[in-house]
Amino acid sequence: MAAKDIRPDEEQPGAGPAHVAIIMDGNGRWATSRGRPRLVGHQHGARRVRDIVEACPRLGVEYLTIFAFSTENWKRTQVEVSGLMTLFKRYIKREAQRLLQSGVRVRFIGDRVRLDSALVQMMDNLEALTAGNSLVNLTIALNYGGRDEVTRATQRMAAEVAAGRLKAEDVDASTLASYLDTCMLPDPDLVIRTSGEARISNFLLWQSAYAEYEFIDTLWPDFTADCFADVLSGYGARDRRFGAVRA
Ligand code: FPP
Repeated sequence: MAAKDIRPDEEQPGAGPAHVAIIMDGNGRWATSRGRPRLVGHQHGARRVRDIVEACPRLGVEYLTIFAFSTENWKRTQVEVSGLMTLFKRYIKREAQRLLQSGVRVRFIGDRVRLDSALVQMMDNLEALTAGNSLVNLTIALNYGGRDEVTRATQRMAAEVAAGRLKAEDVDASTLASYLDTCMLPDPDLVIRTSGEARISNFLLWQSAYAEYEFIDTLWPDFTADCFADVLSGYGARDRRFGAVRA
């Protein structure tokens, strides 16, 4: 079954979330509270990414989508932005073989146009290297914004209409979904945000229409696999009705 054919209304009550999306927040505060530069927080945050990805198979998580860099994060200082870009390159270089051996398929979403070409090359290579894996589908959102994604999708769709390859009256929600960066993914069941902030900050706006949300006080560098398991254990008790009434 293609990922986008997975229908949320088929979910069984008590089942764990198949797709978890995470806003990894709090790296800066974690570092500042220790008198360290913000980048040190991001470095510790990168270690947590490994732990959380590797916990997915035993927790039944098939899809994990993480927010690594937003379209708004360019407003940070040049030191922080370039430090993060270096960290992403280092992560890809260090983790590629381990991800491959662990059965993780990696994909990236977001607009690659503004990213440096060496990084884009590494992203492409990692996607190709892990394309045969299916145990865990890790999607890294890099230069990603929900509004930007919908805008880019709409532009491509409008171009198809203008070229006569798509009829405007045939466009429905699934047509638009098929133009999004996430066209190969099911919608997230659960969105977690660490660090105590209760906002979604332009993350997966379209896709999270029926997602459950968990806002956790723990800062991302302290978010261990045990914390992840705790959050997921609370999810099974939820009654997701997707607008319907359960019989
Ligand atoms: C938000 O914390 C975090 C980010 C903008 C970057 C997320 C990046 C990582 C976790 C690093 C590694 C990622 C990968 C994929 C290797 P913040 O800086 O906004 O924290 P603050 O709110 O405390 O300032």
